[in-house]
Amino acid sequence: MSTRKVEPKVEPHPAAAGYTAPPPHPAGTGRRPEPPAHEPPAPEPRRPVEPRPLQPGEPDWRFSTLAIHAGQEPDPATGAVTVPIYQTSTFHQAELGKHKGYEYARTQNPTRRALESNLAALEGGRYGFAFGSGMAAIGAIANLFKSGDHVIASDDMYGGTFRLFNLVLKPYGLEFSYVDSSDVAALAAAIRPATRLIYVETPSNPLMKVTDLSAVGRLGRERGILTACDNTFMTPYFQKPLALGIDLVVHSTTKYLNGHSDMVGGVVVTDSTEVAERLAFLQNAVGGVPGPFDCWLVLRGTKTLALRMERHNQNALQVARHLAAHPKLGRIHYPGLPDHPGHALMQRQATGFGGMISFDLESLERARRFLGAVRLFTLAESLGGVESLICHPATMTHASVPAAERARVGLGDGLVRLSVGIEDAEDLIADLDQALARL
Ligand SMILES: Cc1ncc(COP(=O)(O)O)c(C=O)c1O
Repeated sequence: MSTRKVEPKVEPHPAAAGYTAPPPHPAGTGRRPEPPAHEPPAPEPRRPVEPRPLQPGEPDWRFSTLAIHAGQEPDPATGAVTVPIYQTSTFHQAELGKHKGYEYARTQNPTRRALESNLAALEGGRYGFAFGSGMAAIGAIANLFKSGDHVIASDDMYGGTFRLFNLVLKPYGLEFSYVDSSDVAALAAAIRPATRLIYVETPSNPLMKVTDLSAVGRLGRERGILTACDNTFMTPYFQKPLALGIDLVVHSTTKYLNGHSDMVGGVVVTDSTEVAERLAFLQNAVGGVPGPFDCWLVLRGTKTLALRMERHNQNALQVARHLAAHPKLGRIHYPGLPDHPGHALMQRQATGFGGMISFDLESLERARRFLGAVRLFTLAESLGGVESLICHPATMTHASVPAAERARVGLGDGLVRLSVGIEDAEDLIADLDQALARL
């Protein structure tokens, strides 16, 4: 568990009670009304939170032991060794105000609580909040902020995050700057008086740029700005942003944490009680929670996370080395290759390089031919499952990033992205070779 002492500061939020709604939109002027002058802030709505419960001996457990046991004691009601799927929307109350800790399943559910505790343990945080998708989890982080607040985000990140920021939150008055977060000086230069959050993905999606998480955490603490990291590509098995000084970790649990491409979900983990109380309030108030069966599927996934990540990493290294030597290909974006600009940093802040690789085939036409020729790699959105997937970011995962912005960051129409699965690496390489032979 992180031993950081600094509790990040969150600006008071205009609470539902006492918040004066802005005047109606002046129809036809095309201008948004000025945000309300800042009245004395109403008390920030929060829900009290308990740190995840620790089992005897747990502080000494290593990763795989935590993955299999944290949050997952035998069921107190029945002794079931596997956490049951509590498929219920509500819970009996013996009398007014007297219940067993559960009232209504949007607010809390035992299967979800087990997952939240498990994922918090793996990330080394005290508090976890599960959501119905990775986007709902990122949305909950965004809900910590208000109109006029400024967010600095990586300029290369999942396209859906851009879409949420630009097309949903910007019209509400949040402001965003996108910078190459692998350049911490550029992040620092983008800070304004209203900056409240630095949000990074590392390695970035899909160009695999590496951001120095310790430096970002330090910058945030020095300037009183919350920091968040999307750790979906690495998982806590390889990288623990909280231990590096980041305040919030977010995941699409749809990916490696579940690992079997059979559900959609998200999680936010933090060590800050103040932020956790706000997130608990938002999780219940906004309501984007996962169902118990999806929570159970992720819990089943994390039990084998260490084994799967080792194999993803080994396979991806083999595939990347092979592609790097291929005469038809230029630069391979994989931080496990020694000539990758983020290789040394990755070795310092992570214990593996993961299963994601991208490379540029120089034109949409060549990319199309290649994607049509692979047999074992499945053409599909998403990543992190046991099966290998291939995608075309410009038209799939990053289609909602404006073309000019894609061009600016170097995400070309010829770029393809591999999610290297846990099949036999020789078969994966043979498949890529036969597809490359057709170019
Ligand atoms: C890095 C990353 N973060 C977040 C998300 C969003 O997660 P979800 O699809 O579970 O909403 C994705 C989805 O592809 C992703 O790749």
